[in-house]
Amino acid sequence: MSDRYASFAHTGPGRALVRRLGLPDPPRLRRYRPGDPLVTAPVRLDGAPGGRLVEPVGKLLGAAGVEVATSTEAPPAEDGRPGPYGALVFDASGITDSTGLRTLFAFFHPLARSLQPAGRVIVLGTPPEACGSPREATAQRALEGLTRSIGKEFGRGSTAQLVYVAPGAERAIESTLRFLLSGRSAYVSGQVVRISPAEPPEVDWSRPLTDRVALVTGAARGIGATIAEVLARDGAQVVALDVPAAGDALASVANAVGGTALQLDLTAPDAPDRLAAHLADRYGRVDVVVHNAGITRDRTLGRMSPDWWDAVLEVNLSSQERINDVLLDRDLIPRGGRLVGVSSIAGIAGNRGQTNYATSKAGVIGLVQSTAPVLAAREITVNAVAPGFIETRMTARMPVMLREAGRRMNSMAQGGLPVDVAETIAWFASPASAGITGNVVRVCGQSLLGA
Ligand SMILES: NC(=O)c1ccc[n+]([C@@H]2O[C@H](COP(=O)([O-])OP(=O)(O)OC[C@H]3O[C@@H](n4cnc5c(N)ncnc54)[C@H](O)[C@@H]3O)[C@@H](O)[C@H]2O)c1
Repeated sequence: MSDRYASFAHTGPGRALVRRLGLPDPPRLRRYRPGDPLVTAPVRLDGAPGGRLVEPVGKLLGAAGVEVATSTEAPPAEDGRPGPYGALVFDASGITDSTGLRTLFAFFHPLARSLQPAGRVIVLGTPPEACGSPREATAQRALEGLTRSIGKEFGRGSTAQLVYVAPGAERAIESTLRFLLSGRSAYVSGQVVRISPAEPPEVDWSRPLTDRVALVTGAARGIGATIAEVLARDGAQVVALDVPAAGDALASVANAVGGTALQLDLTAPDAPDRLAAHLADRYGRVDVVVHNAGITRDRTLGRMSPDWWDAVLEVNLSSQERINDVLLDRDLIPRGGRLVGVSSIAGIAGNRGQTNYATSKAGVIGLVQSTAPVLAAREITVNAVAPGFIETRMTARMPVMLREAGRRMNSMAQGGLPVDVAETIAWFASPASAGITGNVVRVCGQSLLGA
């Protein structure tokens, strides 16, 4: 569904009118195209004294061909203003006390107007739960307020994230930095990512999923079809699954991505067995499982039929648990495996008329958080995306006022695209993301809902 308001606001007269009337001004987002550089201008990198991340980050950015400027070698400014920069990266891991938070102000204050449109802000810190003292944990927790506020303040399509790097996880940060700096994270902002210690393998960054087998459920249309496309672009062999009634659309998605189609209703009692048999016979394994299939049956609780409650819980949560159990029990997900769930901001904030849906999507978050520690010993990661307003058939059917509110009430003043969700899933799916587990990342343009 096209966003006619945003298209108009991008024209000359539209832009003038939007500014004069103080209307929402949706910026153009920078979305990834194969071959694009990570950033389009130098990255300004600095850190609080005593931090452990400036050096590894500087090294990996340099190796990735990114021009890095530090406080001592910042390019001279023609107009008295430093930059412009493609990204501002600050290592706050050295801050051990709230008084040290002043270094954040000292870094960001003079640079606040030096970020390019669609630029990136990344603050790196230590997870509060891994800090050595309550004072340090307090200061590290405070970083969330700064990054979320920058996300709301800097505008012009820029994003701001907080990345907590556990001690010992310094070598596992590259896939996350690459994702957050690039156009792949166009609609992800105000998020907190946690990286655990891991030793990721070397990957070809243009096709990190080469030789990986990826299952995508609900792949016949919408977000699922785009997930299949993006995973195939990144090198995966895709198994596209959907209900038999969507067989034709499913076949065309599978053909387009050079994958295979599997017609299966996930809620059928024999679905886990049939799926496991298909994967075992065709591929002998599955490296990436994306549980994308989902349905809504909206009604206020008092008017909801038991069938509608059951249908939503079955498709969106219980069938996924049964499938995970069978695939894991039969050892079809090898070391380095990736489970990815699709939650929703409704599962975080709740939504009137969606008690069943929000319960199922909050359950997906519970599944991620409870399963990640259990599967860590098998080196399998479990994460989820929580999309906000994404331009799909589902959101096109919403009443017009509700749809406009959903589109505009976020830091980007526009809806996201299926590709924004798919790129985030591809980041989780990458072999290089070995240290990313137990995370729920919202793809919502920093929606005010559930903020
Ligand atoms: N569109 C949004 O704005 C949005 C926001 C938040 C979360 N999500 C979630 O993203 C996912 C994809 O959403 P979408 O908008 O692309 O939905 P969609 O309705 O366009 O596609 C869902 C797909 O899942 C398939 N499916 C449903 N039940 C199934 C079953 N029992 N077995 C196999 N396949 C089944 C459908 O046939 C369909 O092809 C869902 O989990 C949804 O809850 C979407």
